[in-house]
Amino acid sequence: MNYPVWYLPEIGGGTLIALIAVAHVYVSHFALGGGLYLVFAERKGLRENNRGILEFTRTHARFFLLMTAVFGAISGVGIWFIISLVNPVATSFLIHNFLFAWATEWVMFGVETVAIFVYFYTFGKMDDRTHQKIGWIYFGAAWLSLFFINGIICFMLSPGDWTVNGDFWSGFFNPTFWPSFFFRTFVAFIFAGVYAFLTTSFLRDMELKKTMSRFSGLWVLVSMLCAAPCGFWYLQSIPGQARALVDGASPTINTAVYYGIWAIAGIVICTLVLILLKPSLHTRPASFALFLCAFLFMGAFEWSREASRRPFVINGVIYSNGLTPGDMAEADRDGFLGAARWARVKEAQSDEDIEAGREIFKFQCHACHTVRGFNNDIVSRTRGMSYEALDAYIGKIHQIRYFMPPFAGNDKERGSLAAYLTKGLQGREIVREKPSAAGGARGKGLFLKNCTLCHPESLIKEKTHGWDLEKIRHALDNLNALQPAMPDFIGPPAEKDLIAGYIYSLNNPRADETEKADSDDGRGAR
Ligand code: HEC
Ligand code: HEC
Repeated sequence: MNYPVWYLPEIGGGTLIALIAVAHVYVSHFALGGGLYLVFAERKGLRENNRGILEFTRTHARFFLLMTAVFGAISGVGIWFIISLVNPVATSFLIHNFLFAWATEWVMFGVETVAIFVYFYTFGKMDDRTHQKIGWIYFGAAWLSLFFINGIICFMLSPGDWTVNGDFWSGFFNPTFWPSFFFRTFVAFIFAGVYAFLTTSFLRDMELKKTMSRFSGLWVLVSMLCAAPCGFWYLQSIPGQARALVDGASPTINTAVYYGIWAIAGIVICTLVLILLKPSLHTRPASFALFLCAFLFMGAFEWSREASRRPFVINGVIYSNGLTPGDMAEADRDGFLGAARWARVKEAQSDEDIEAGREIFKFQCHACHTVRGFNNDIVSRTRGMSYEALDAYIGKIHQIRYFMPPFAGNDKERGSLAAYLTKGLQGREIVREKPSAAGGARGKGLFLKNCTLCHPESLIKEKTHGWDLEKIRHALDNLNALQPAMPDFIGPPAEKDLIAGYIYSLNNPRADETEKADSDDGRGAR
């Protein structure tokens, strides 16, 4: 609440971070895996006394030099700019807690950069043993670089005992540290092989091309075999709620995992075909396809990892929108806007104050939602929802969808946010339904309020075709089991009975009549 919001309605800060981070992470994994690849390729060239292989290795080294020293460094600085602007709270928190880990990582990066310069410019000019040692230094420094940054990234997902004792080492060697470290290491090796596939496709010397393709293909396959169990281990080590999101409770992660699996399949199939079955297919387009698969995989993996932390940016400590659980309690008591130092509006005048709602949206929802942008657009997400449905939804937002943080603020502020989303953004008038939540509530009202937020009535009608009343009622006790993406309905059994009755009536018109009579009764009674 102590920082301004960098408001980018169409893009969203999260997407900016993702774009730069995925590119940076992809390249830094290349640089790491490439280090080992260089050492082994050079050794192969020396052992076989093959000038072609040595020259091939030297060209590779030049690429890694450019990638580490230019792209790696620039995108690394870019990440710092972006994260400190998009989420100053979390950035400051990490600096306060992990400054020395970061400093060490930078030293390693420095060593890595110097080593690759020396390696490249002395290629063929230094005695072989020493030159190979320099290659090892490059690889070792890159690996240690991963070691240190990995501690911090994993901390954000699984702070572990740190939350109890606040100890640096508990935070650094947190529950996902080792599995993530090994998994990323092998992924880096895979990428190095994939990249070498690309460069070999440009080779003119057919004999050399064949040798190096086979070498790179085996390299990729062996790395994949090692990465698979580490990936599994990593999944097992992810803490409870994040694990549930990865396992299917989050629609966005579902999509990412889906692409990730296709990407892995693509890498395996391309590699097998290219080296074992039909080496003649090893053309530039095929290598590019492989390269893209690897990029897609990295994107899917990083995206899932970031998204599985939701609603937190640092699990259990700071929410994605920069608020902490402590801030929430304070805002619920005294109001949010008054305490938000950079808010332009200081108080919601009523429960329909659109200006106040806009301000609250920026501070609490914009971290994950764009306004008519391409990523998680709030306008399309709220299209079918009425003012009252939204007001109720926001009040329970963290229970309905546990990847969203709880709403922070008083009743007027909550209403104002709903007003901004319906009237402000969609231009729909605010309609206050009859006070249906009180006593005389009928199934239909409850149904519309609770069940049509995420899917239309027609879908439920179609899916429950042929179900008897008891089955529907039973399903309402455990909606999440029906569909992992659907939250359980939280309400007393009497409300479930009413909703079940209404859903039953959708496919069974006779019950419909009773329902109509019921709702007439309700109206009469009021
Ligand atoms: C930590 C990230 C995050 C924050 C912060 C967040 N949301 Fe969401 N929200 C999501 C995700 C992810 C989805 C689901 C997107 C999908 O279905 O693909 C979602 C979906 C929604 C939906 C669609 C209905 C549904 O349940 O799928 C609404 C409405 C919504 N959010 C409102 C809000 C409001 C209002 C705020 C601010 C008080 C907010 N969100 C803050 C991540 C967030
Ligand atoms: C926060 C979002 C959300 C809410 C609220 C929600 N659902 Fe769902 N529901 C889903 C999603 C996502 C699916 C899967 C949709 C699909 O298959 O296209 C689903 C599917 C269903 C299905 C079909 C299940 C199947 O067999 O495939 C039924 C029945 C259903 N919902 C009933 C309800 C009822 C009743 C309520 C109100 C108490 C409700 N839903 C509220 C998200 C939600």
